[in-house]
Amino acid sequence: MHTASFSEQLSPIEWGPLLNSTFSSILAPFALRKIAIIVDENTHDHCLEFLITGFEALSEAEVIMLPAGEENKVLGVCFQVWETLTEAGFGRHDLLINLGGGMVTDLGGFVASVYKRGLAFINIPTSLLGMVDAAVGGKTGIDFAAYKNQIGTFATAHATYIDTGFLHTLPSHEWTNGFAELLKHALISDAALWEELIQIENIPLELRSETIQQGVQIKAKIVAQDPMERGLRKILNFGHTIGHALESYYLNTATPLAHGHAVAIGMLLEARLSVEQATLSKTEFQSIEKYIKQTYQLQIPNNAEGLWALMLQDKKNMNGEVRICLLAEIGNCLFDQKLTFGDFKDALAHSIS
Ligand SMILES: NC(=O)c1ccc[n+]([C@@H]2O[C@H](COP(=O)([O-])OP(=O)(O)OC[C@H]3O[C@@H](n4cnc5c(N)ncnc54)[C@H](O)[C@@H]3O)[C@@H](O)[C@H]2O)c1
Repeated sequence: MHTASFSEQLSPIEWGPLLNSTFSSILAPFALRKIAIIVDENTHDHCLEFLITGFEALSEAEVIMLPAGEENKVLGVCFQVWETLTEAGFGRHDLLINLGGGMVTDLGGFVASVYKRGLAFINIPTSLLGMVDAAVGGKTGIDFAAYKNQIGTFATAHATYIDTGFLHTLPSHEWTNGFAELLKHALISDAALWEELIQIENIPLELRSETIQQGVQIKAKIVAQDPMERGLRKILNFGHTIGHALESYYLNTATPLAHGHAVAIGMLLEARLSVEQATLSKTEFQSIEKYIKQTYQLQIPNNAEGLWALMLQDKKNMNGEVRICLLAEIGNCLFDQKLTFGDFKDALAHSIS
């Protein structure tokens, strides 16, 4: 595997084996400072040892282990991390390393961004979803009162290192989960990539490392043009208005829906709305519908009112109106499109039947 770097707004993203990267040299200025590594239970077991044994500078690092799962991306867990950092005497010039999926990088980035008004943090994503989306772009956050990412910051990582070697221990359903964000990147900006992705039947076996890298580049390029999400960056939320509502709806139930899986269903519904309210052709919609239905189980509640109540808290709303992204065609996405309850209810009814 070769190494490469992309330029995100002020934050380097490096691609390739960590051992061949600039990671050691970026740690050098922290030699006399404190370093903490945040992991969850799974990345503690599968990813941490490689980091601690591979990099001398990390042999004495403070390890902070979070309980795994979206239900733990909450303020109570942040309190515990801030308490540990405070007790261990972390100051503003020390370093936090987030080693995990999107839950770890979102929460760890948020914790770091407000601790003593800002502690440097490095993201090392270990899930497919983290690599192609969550760890890139400077959005941090936690869920609050059942709403997704209700509290958070824009905070630039000191650096992000993407080493697909970490994916060897990722369970196959987590590959499918992360793959949804790659599908999204293709749908909003790259029709050729969409055609390539829909040929894939076995995601872990057939997804090429170069394609993952392409996904990272798409995200980094969009973020670089609009880091604070004033306009264009909103297209990265395609599928997310409805997807986040579904994810919240099933959070803390017996059948939670993983983020990517929820986004896949959200994309199906938002694509259906794109035929009615934008210019997506029926043929392109059918290609989206076919692939999403064959890859993801459609777990959708027959509760339009309940989902709508969750969507009314969406961060992209304006003047109390729900705004979503719609596809003009595959590879071309519109943002700030108004959605009414009636249209949402119809799209939901179609997808359930
Ligand atoms: N900040 C952003 O821009 C952004 C973008 C997209 C998604 N997100 C957020 O990302 C989160 C979803 O990310 P996720 O799917 O990575 O969730 P996650 O971090 O919960 O990881 C999914 C599961 O995979 C496990 N795991 C991760 N790496 C592993 C490895 N190498 N080996 C074995 N197990 C491993 C984790 O322990 C967890 O059980 C959501 O909270 C979502 O809101 C953020």
